[in-house]
Amino acid sequence: MIKIAVMGYGVVGSGTVEVFYKNLDNIEKKIGDKIDIKYILDLRDFSDSPYKDKFIKDFNIILNDPEISVVAEVIGGLNPAYQYVKSLLEKGKSVVTSNKELVAEKGAELIKTAREKNVNFFFEASVGGGIPIIRPLHHCLSANEINEIAGILNGTTNYILTKMIDEGESFEAALTQAQKLGYAERDPSADVEGADACRKICILASLAFGKHVYPSSVHTEGITGIAAEDIQYCKDFGGAVKLIGWASRKGNNAAVMVCPAFIAASSQLSSVNDVFNAILVRGDATGDVIFYGKGAGKLPTASAVVSDIIMAAKMDSNSKSLYWNDSDKSFVLDRKSLENKFYLRLICKDKNEILGAAEKMWGKVKILHRDNENENEIAFITDKVNEGRFDEDCAVIAEKAQIKGKIRVLDY
Ligand code: HSE
Repeated sequence: MIKIAVMGYGVVGSGTVEVFYKNLDNIEKKIGDKIDIKYILDLRDFSDSPYKDKFIKDFNIILNDPEISVVAEVIGGLNPAYQYVKSLLEKGKSVVTSNKELVAEKGAELIKTAREKNVNFFFEASVGGGIPIIRPLHHCLSANEINEIAGILNGTTNYILTKMIDEGESFEAALTQAQKLGYAERDPSADVEGADACRKICILASLAFGKHVYPSSVHTEGITGIAAEDIQYCKDFGGAVKLIGWASRKGNNAAVMVCPAFIAASSQLSSVNDVFNAILVRGDATGDVIFYGKGAGKLPTASAVVSDIIMAAKMDSNSKSLYWNDSDKSFVLDRKSLENKFYLRLICKDKNEILGAAEKMWGKVKILHRDNENENEIAFITDKVNEGRFDEDCAVIAEKAQIKGKIRVLDY
């Protein structure tokens, strides 16, 4: 009999327990052994729960119980999750987690500790909710050199953008609904400001490129600066505005970013709506592979946690392929050295003057239109420009016009 513990009984924790007991027969067949949850750690009172006898408040009970071989950490956040996970691994227990902040900040260290102790640290649920992406990257695609990853990695913002664009809902109403549905982070600014997507692209890039990508080295923008006018211009462009996390191999370095982007209708990412996520992985042998499914929510995320529990319970040694080395900030290239296309929306007195200045700096631009366009408004798309140079050029333009919208145009 394998005994496990679940730490945290919030949205994902309660979903994990629910999926575990719902499919226990099947799970035991897959493991080839009996398995049960011995403890659920949570400081709150759950005396009405059918699992009330399993609840404990003291982490040390789990740490010091030799019967416990696998622990699911679904508390979220760095503290106390990091201290708990580190000491469990050091004690020789495998840990599975949905905690993207933990993996994005401490992944290299915790993977190393797991390897030293010949146990496992699994985190399928940390990216893409119920979508299998971590294991495919280090197992099924391991014959490839992965050169590019780009995806819609945050369910909450994709849900908000879909509601705003398709149903004309306000940002606030859509966010409230995403919170009710259990999609949003405890602090939803992590969703709308891009930090959650940043953590996820850091995890994927670390795994794909073999070196830790830290969130602090990744330029991150959220969706709060997107106006209804930008969405209208994007319709003329022919596509959709999406929050994209992307990572690209550049020799011995990586370019990594999170930003809202105009995505052309020809891209499969443009039609990914609602809470769904999609992750495009470009391998040198496979070409493009797309992973698609529900990126947030109780049961999809629990599905990934329970799958990791099954895997950890089955394995009697460390998974060698799930590994990356630590690195420093110089691994990720400075945004200002990168080249991208931009959409700009400006309010100005003299459109011809602005257009002339823009084309002098950036070459021919593609002008966009929308219904009821303000007569002082101009919107266009540039060709690829160096980002550092573009910042300086925009400062010059800003002396003559108000820059109201500035969004990258990505070709995925
Ligand atoms: N808040 C996250 C999202 C949850 O909306 O994608 C899943 O990681």
